[in-house]
Amino acid sequence: MPEQPHLFSPLKIRNLVLRNRIGVSPMCQYSSEDGFVNDWHFAHLGSRAVGGAGLVMMEATNVSPEGRITPACTGLWKDAHIEPLWRITDFIKKQGAAAGVQLGHAGRKASMQKPWEGGKRLSKDQGGWETLAPSALPFSPELEPPKEMSGADIQKFIADFVSAAERAVRAGFQIIELHGAHGYLLHEFLSPLSNKRADSYGGSLENRCRLTLEIAGKIRKVIPQEIVLGARLSCVDWLEGGITIDDSAHLAQELKKRGVDFIDCSSGFISAAAKSPFAPGFQVPFAKEIREKTGILTCAVGLITEAEQADGIIRSGGADMVFLARAMLRDPYWPIHAAQKLNQKAEIPPQYLRGY
Ligand SMILES: Cc1cc2nc3c(=O)[nH]c(=O)nc-3n(C[C@H](O)[C@H](O)[C@H](O)COP(=O)(O)O)c2cc1C
Repeated sequence: MPEQPHLFSPLKIRNLVLRNRIGVSPMCQYSSEDGFVNDWHFAHLGSRAVGGAGLVMMEATNVSPEGRITPACTGLWKDAHIEPLWRITDFIKKQGAAAGVQLGHAGRKASMQKPWEGGKRLSKDQGGWETLAPSALPFSPELEPPKEMSGADIQKFIADFVSAAERAVRAGFQIIELHGAHGYLLHEFLSPLSNKRADSYGGSLENRCRLTLEIAGKIRKVIPQEIVLGARLSCVDWLEGGITIDDSAHLAQELKKRGVDFIDCSSGFISAAAKSPFAPGFQVPFAKEIREKTGILTCAVGLITEAEQADGIIRSGGADMVFLARAMLRDPYWPIHAAQKLNQKAEIPPQYLRGY
């Protein structure tokens, strides 16, 4: 009998072997200029690789400038973005972690101030811009409605996404995650609450999934076979009439057919009215259900903070990986500390051995 996987079992996806099942969840740093990463990103992402994570996933990185949540969000919309990213991916890999990037577009949730500067919509004279969405419906009533995307806007978005994925490969990333969650552009197309289109990208579940599936399929065709492709989904909208777990299981199955390797199972944030029932591990049931229904690898995320909790999720078949966000901000060495608690081999860098 093969040993039951646990938090520190390696995970093989395509040819990539992750040293454990702990991923740093993508986290915007709002610290970039013109989409470029800098020493902040190097230190932030690099130290989490030093801390023993199996995968370090870089923040939502934008496929076009108007897709940024704030003017300080990272991008991959031009070749010049590649070189400074290479320095980071190279360092992450040298520490024994895998380097991943989340690609996305904020849709109607773009053009905002940094959270610590208020997190409000930027006006045009503050450097803001018109936002794009499937339908001219705002995220919350006090915001200006976004521009409804034309067919040409959709085709440009698809092309931008595919080009950004090609650049991500050239920047040394081994994993690409499509951001289809949290009320950003792909999620806005997926959800019947934000997508009221009458063309082939709106209406039925099949039509609402079309854009995400087209992008995934096109990306899979242009990236090398060994590059791992995943998608983060808001598995439910937590609102009447919104996305259900059955819809997400259907989408996961279709993504799998197009060569997507894993689903990162989040939820919520499609509109200001949606309220998530935050509690430890509250999204794990989505990862478990999608894993069981489709056989695709899944990641559980959301209020996973304790070593035993994370280990239990893997051992009980709740998910194949766990992603941690805020716990990793509090403790970049979370994986090393978890290994010590669970009596597993800790990936301590040799430079730091004398501290242990
Ligand atoms: C500072 C910060 C930035 C975030 N940025 C992103 C992001 O870029 N993309 C994303 O999908 N989720 C983002 N999230 C959500 C996290 O990835 C994660 O799903 C969420 O925080 C729940 O996990 P946690 O309870 O471990 O923090 C962010 C969260 C935080 C705290």
